[in-house]
Amino acid sequence: METQAFGTIHGQAVTAYTLTNQHGVRLTCLDYGATWLKLEVPTAVGRQNLLLTSPSFDGYADPRSYHGKTIGRVAGRIGADQYPQPLPANEGTSTLHGGPHGFSTLMWAVQATAEQLVFSRYITSAEDGFPGDIDVKVTYTLTANDDVLIDFDANTDQPTLFNPTNHAYWNLNAGDETIQNHQLMLNSHQRFAVQTNKVPTGELLDNAHGGFDFSHPTDLGAALATMQTTAEKGYDDIFLVAPHTASEPVAKLTQGKLGVTMYSRRNALVVFTANAFGDELDFGEKTSRPYIGIALEAQTAPSAVADPRYGDITLLPGQPRHEQVRYHFEY
Ligand code: GAL
Repeated sequence: METQAFGTIHGQAVTAYTLTNQHGVRLTCLDYGATWLKLEVPTAVGRQNLLLTSPSFDGYADPRSYHGKTIGRVAGRIGADQYPQPLPANEGTSTLHGGPHGFSTLMWAVQATAEQLVFSRYITSAEDGFPGDIDVKVTYTLTANDDVLIDFDANTDQPTLFNPTNHAYWNLNAGDETIQNHQLMLNSHQRFAVQTNKVPTGELLDNAHGGFDFSHPTDLGAALATMQTTAEKGYDDIFLVAPHTASEPVAKLTQGKLGVTMYSRRNALVVFTANAFGDELDFGEKTSRPYIGIALEAQTAPSAVADPRYGDITLLPGQPRHEQVRYHFEY
């Protein structure tokens, strides 16, 4: 395990932690936001980072893009009126990605071994605005088989919500090209209809029409071309994951020899293609612009907050919750 100083926030030092496996795959995370900073693979021409990464801490102090950050207590958008108790709003009356003081904005304690980075945090209700004081652990594991596992664990003292995810954006190009030359496969046949504020209506739409069918490996450039007549001009969609076994992937992204395959038992995956990104964001050699990265966010469908047909995201005293996402890399 290696460490590197990575700036400061509110006078506190931010540190980057790097694990390396037998094949030379390197995983780097920050204690701030329990952020996934880099995933580097060895290639014929040297090490290549597959994530969108800001070169300095300033890029992570900006709350808008959430790149690499741990998201919680609840990923995605839930409406103020969808839970019996008021939730901390940060987008009109909605709570996006855990609200203004979500997991992505916190400093986490770290325990590191040769294979794991364990980030832990006690978060009070007064601190992030959700009911209940919670104990959270986010564990990144780098295996000898080129897998990264992220395990999310939580306990609470009062009923609350827990639907965390990681907000890494992928770009498998060595140079400055966008993800338009990537292929994407999703284990999904339906997606959630949303209101103008992007909170789901609870209805499902069929993926078969209008550029949403990724049930086979699909060219993202061609798919994005079909989206140019929409207001979003790209993907920012909550896909319903089809029933599947633990060994079946929920998503696979490839470009040439490089690939990332995601495994998750949860029933939704948000796909976001950075449709309006501009030069307010700094990703080093990758010029920030639309489609410079793709976020694939495994989660329980946000509709579960108000509709048990879409799952259960409640966290109850005495009933700890555990969620996991696994990424496998080919290079
Ligand atoms: C996504 C969300 C987008 C946007 C993005 C962060 O998860 O669906 O609408 O908020 O995060 O820039």
